[in-house]
Amino acid sequence: MNTQAMLREGYESYRNYVNPLVTLRAELLGEPTRITGVQDGRLVEPRGLVEDFHGTQTFGHRHPAISQAVTDFLASDSPNWFPCRVNPYAGLLAERLCTRANQTLEGPRPTYSNVFFANSGSGAVEAALKLARAATKKPRVISLDGAYHGCTMGSCALMKPGMFKDPFGPHVPQAGPIPFGDIDALVEALRGGDVAAVVLEPIQLEGGVRTVSSAYLEVVCELTAKHGALLVADEIQTGLGRTGRFLASENWPRRPDALILGKHLGGGLVPISAMLTSDELFERAYGEHYASAEAHNTTFGGNALVCVAALAALDLLTDELIARVGRVGNAFRAKLASTLARHELFAQVKGAGLLVGIELKPSDHPWLSFEHFGIDALVDQPTIGVLLCHRLYKRGFYCFACGHDWRILRVLPRFTIEEATLDAFVTAVDEELEYLCNLA
Ligand SMILES: Cc1ncc(COP(=O)(O)O)c(C=O)c1O
Repeated sequence: MNTQAMLREGYESYRNYVNPLVTLRAELLGEPTRITGVQDGRLVEPRGLVEDFHGTQTFGHRHPAISQAVTDFLASDSPNWFPCRVNPYAGLLAERLCTRANQTLEGPRPTYSNVFFANSGSGAVEAALKLARAATKKPRVISLDGAYHGCTMGSCALMKPGMFKDPFGPHVPQAGPIPFGDIDALVEALRGGDVAAVVLEPIQLEGGVRTVSSAYLEVVCELTAKHGALLVADEIQTGLGRTGRFLASENWPRRPDALILGKHLGGGLVPISAMLTSDELFERAYGEHYASAEAHNTTFGGNALVCVAALAALDLLTDELIARVGRVGNAFRAKLASTLARHELFAQVKGAGLLVGIELKPSDHPWLSFEHFGIDALVDQPTIGVLLCHRLYKRGFYCFACGHDWRILRVLPRFTIEEATLDAFVTAVDEELEYLCNLA
């Protein structure tokens, strides 16, 4: 079957054999679904080109340099997988990640010197949770309300109640959220000395693009060290340049004991994630003897193919590009805020670099309710975010509402996006919000 036939015929097979509900949602919301290819980093759809703001495609879809690195690897005679598990490609990528992460962080703290590769973000979160329990011999794992750390059982336990969590109990014991940004609750939780880890996103994306205060960060850094709990930074969304810095945790008062990277680490082409920590913690968790060498492992984690793609992605992620993300992101957020200020349904623009949240005010007009659209299961959810997304799809922009807070649009453009395209997006949001304000 050729590519066009696969793209065409596989669509119905996805509905029938993978996930009918995702297909239903995509169609109800009018998402760009009939993709026929990729052009200059954008998706090609019968309605035209689509700029993808989902955030996994930092360099645009199918960046030629990343595709070429994978093509070159496939043309070589190297094995992709090593039965002894001593995988030189994983070694090189781990060294590169540690060196880069250590360069960006200041202060007399332990350096990153040990990496675990997984195949998904939640796989890397899972590795951090297990490292924390094994290294500290303590049971509790704390997250913050509104967190999103993925869908494995460990990650799921860290989520607040809701559709990501409720159907899957009983959950991993002694793991779960405390109130967001509440210093007293944090002090109380750590007081007992039984906490293995506090897991934080530098900016909660699905929780509504929000950051804890610097006072909170001071306290969490100090108290985790004092009580022997690991500080874990989930930088799956914020890391690798997204906020205008290589790591968003760069300016935290204490370097996280474990750092999690994912999403665009594979250049948007292959699944790979990483959990960076120190030799010391690795040894505390897994000892010095080979009997526990693979106490925590995953078969295809960090295979050669994915490491080659990640190394090519890191080549593209220059300091200049990251500086551009900061500069262009600041201008973009400022322009969004000033342009949208005139709308009744606009609340604020949030975020850092090219991780942007557009917060909207839900309309109380009965026509703009899920009840009116006949979707009773969603009556408690605001429609404003998805209605605006629906309008933006028609304008060639793919964005989505935050998973835990549907009032907020998450907008994560590729790092190489032209400023003119961002300007066109601001105009599109402005016009479409005006349309919705007139209805409301
Ligand atoms: C902050 C954060 N952590 C973890 C995950 C889970 O990653 P994955 O979906 O690759 O398992 C996500 C996914 O969106 C995420 O945003």
